[in-house]
Amino acid sequence: MATKNPIIKDAPNSVVRSIGVIGTGRALPQKVFKNDEFVNLGLDTSDEWIVERTGIKQRYIAKEECASDLAIAAANKAILNAKIDKSEIDCIVVATTSPDYPLFPSVGCLVQSGLGLTDIPAFDLSAACTGFIYAMEVATSMMRNGTYRKVLVIGVDTLSKYCDWKDRSVVILFGDGAGAVVLGGVEDGYGLLASQLGAKGKDWEKLVVPIGGAKEPLTAENISSPDRYIKMDGKAVYKFAVNIIVDVIEKALEKANLKKEDISFFIPHQANKRIIEYAREKLGLSTEQVYVNIDTYGNTSAASIAIAMDEAAEKGLLKNGDIIVTVGFGAGLTYGTNILKWYSSKK
Ligand code: ACO
Repeated sequence: MATKNPIIKDAPNSVVRSIGVIGTGRALPQKVFKNDEFVNLGLDTSDEWIVERTGIKQRYIAKEECASDLAIAAANKAILNAKIDKSEIDCIVVATTSPDYPLFPSVGCLVQSGLGLTDIPAFDLSAACTGFIYAMEVATSMMRNGTYRKVLVIGVDTLSKYCDWKDRSVVILFGDGAGAVVLGGVEDGYGLLASQLGAKGKDWEKLVVPIGGAKEPLTAENISSPDRYIKMDGKAVYKFAVNIIVDVIEKALEKANLKKEDISFFIPHQANKRIIEYAREKLGLSTEQVYVNIDTYGNTSAASIAIAMDEAAEKGLLKNGDIIVTVGFGAGLTYGTNILKWYSSKK
């Protein structure tokens, strides 16, 4: 078996068969917000309730920062970690539903400018908490024919800005942050092996920001309405998540010709510790095989899997050749999974 990395730098249009993560990074806002602070704000909740029902102890809240600030910081770390020059990046894909500006420019274009790059394509992709999973598949598909060779994929959200801070059923769940990866050519057989993406659009009302878009623009009359913030049927989303997670992973495993027993490490979207625990049991994994950081960050939406991947890589939990399964679910309702054979140049 060939041991050297087969990236053919001098042949821009040649096919890159195996595409994987060659660098990771994350960035969080300055402000740490602990559960007790909701009580101090007058919300009828408690640290005990939040920890028991969700596993969340604290989250980071973007006050000064916007999505692009966090995305640029995470991207710089991922580029450094990949040991490449940023000029090698030839496309930027940003998964987010909470951009700096309501319509345009995209966070992708702001990231391109912030990194001091120019002319390469840069765009946003909207799939809520499943955004990073979708973006990984989209970016990899763009790379497979050799058109793009090093793509920056970022998951970023600042959903605390879209929460009604008087609604205890939603605001306690979300935190802000960004995670980034650089995708590049890796040794044959490594990298993204399979993805399975999906959506149940008929259930879009279960998780929605009802007003402030083209359907019902903000006006002087509705500007103070709680409907300009995230409305969620928590129970319905919970049921949707537990019903879909194992099914979507099994479909992707089959595509990759793998079984549940082959999974080395599981990086789920961090929405609720009980959902993660349910999935862990169904997949027959030990607690050591699952990455959980919801206690520290809450639900950072499109950023959650990318942040977790960066932390797990930093801690040395992702070994060369490991089968890594990620899974996401969220507004849309969207869902999806990526299966990776982890490639580490430090093996
Ligand atoms: N503190 C205290 N009590 C609360 C709080 C709170 N923060 N929030 C709700 N309650 C109350 C409710 O009012 C209810 O009271 P009642 O029985 O008197 O009516 C009681 O606690 C139980 O509420 P439930 O909604 O049944 O609580 P549940 O155990 O379902 O937990 C939760 C709620 C945590 C929201 C859960 O349903 C959940 O995690 N759902 C999934 C959310 C999710 O994963 N979203 C991801 C997608 S996000 C995206 O894509 C943008």
